[in-house]
Amino acid sequence: MIILAIESSCDETAVAIVRDKTDVLSTVVSSQIDVHSKYGGVVPEIASRMHIENITVVLEEALKRANISIQAVDAIAVTQGPGLVGCLHVGVQAAKTLAWYYQKPLIPVHHLAGHIYANALVDEIEYPLLALVVSGGHTELVYLSKEYDFKVLGSTQDDAIGEAFDKVARVVGLPYPGGVAIDKLSKEGKPRYKLPTVKTDNPLDFSFSGIKSAVLQLRDRENKAGRELVIPDLAYAFQHNVIEQLISKVKLAIDLYHPKHVVLAGGVAANSYLRQRMKEEFINRDDIKLTIPPLSCCTDNATMIAIAGNIAYMHGITADLSIGADPGMDIC
Ligand code: KG4
Ligand code: ZN
Repeated sequence: MIILAIESSCDETAVAIVRDKTDVLSTVVSSQIDVHSKYGGVVPEIASRMHIENITVVLEEALKRANISIQAVDAIAVTQGPGLVGCLHVGVQAAKTLAWYYQKPLIPVHHLAGHIYANALVDEIEYPLLALVVSGGHTELVYLSKEYDFKVLGSTQDDAIGEAFDKVARVVGLPYPGGVAIDKLSKEGKPRYKLPTVKTDNPLDFSFSGIKSAVLQLRDRENKAGRELVIPDLAYAFQHNVIEQLISKVKLAIDLYHPKHVVLAGGVAANSYLRQRMKEEFINRDDIKLTIPPLSCCTDNATMIAIAGNIAYMHGITADLSIGADPGMDIC
């Protein structure tokens, strides 16, 4: 089975052609990061316009690299949501057009299902599965008792963790994407500043806006006192705070749900301290298989949508041409 998948939920226009679940014939990602970094974050209107400009070029390039004609493709998968509506719309319209014109089945895919199943590229997925999905738009603990059966155990009550990294970076003058800058600087940082621990009603939920405010207050306090804010130390304090929050919730979810396999997913999975702490906590446990995907699988791409799309198709999930982009799509 050959699937052509399209991903356009945020600032990457991506197309992949994947055979039999994980045999990647081609994967092309056109990133807009250079354009958005000037504004300190993704500008939705610019992102959707750039998807329109890029989509056919990326599509042609993916077919060229796979060295196949579109007639040889068995189905078209697409990220239906969640994400930025104008961005999703471009991918969904392209997928619907291809499905209609070439008479191929259309498979709608949830963006997080893609992030989770990106791990299938490096490891066999076992169930029950616990996924920690952390990105610029998501912070979720997702439990799968069996294949393609998703239950959200906890999610953020306010900002996504990547968003918090990006906002904190911006207020202290670091470049976008803030996660990369904070991760790098925190390696030179020392434990000088203390930031508060946040409590949530559901212990498996997350919250990051309080820490963001605490960083702002700390910056203003230091300014008022005439002291220079030591940015590497702040990066260290922030990174340790939010990553330890993730680790404690993963531990709790493991205690409550006893998964056999734990996977990391999403752009923030690139964070070096998160990767280190996940290994320290879980790699030597006999009852758990831990997969920490390579960075190339963590950021947005269409390979992950093709893999999830293939599994979805096996479960009989297809859509007709009446579907539209679903920016608030639920995974279950
Ligand atoms: O998954 P992704 O590429 O796009 C979304 O779907 O959001 O994630 C992008 C996010 C950004 O917020 C970026 O700051 C964050 O991932 N990020 C990191 C690191 N690298 C990227 N956050 C923390 N540490 C990193 N090393
Ligand atoms: Zn993503």
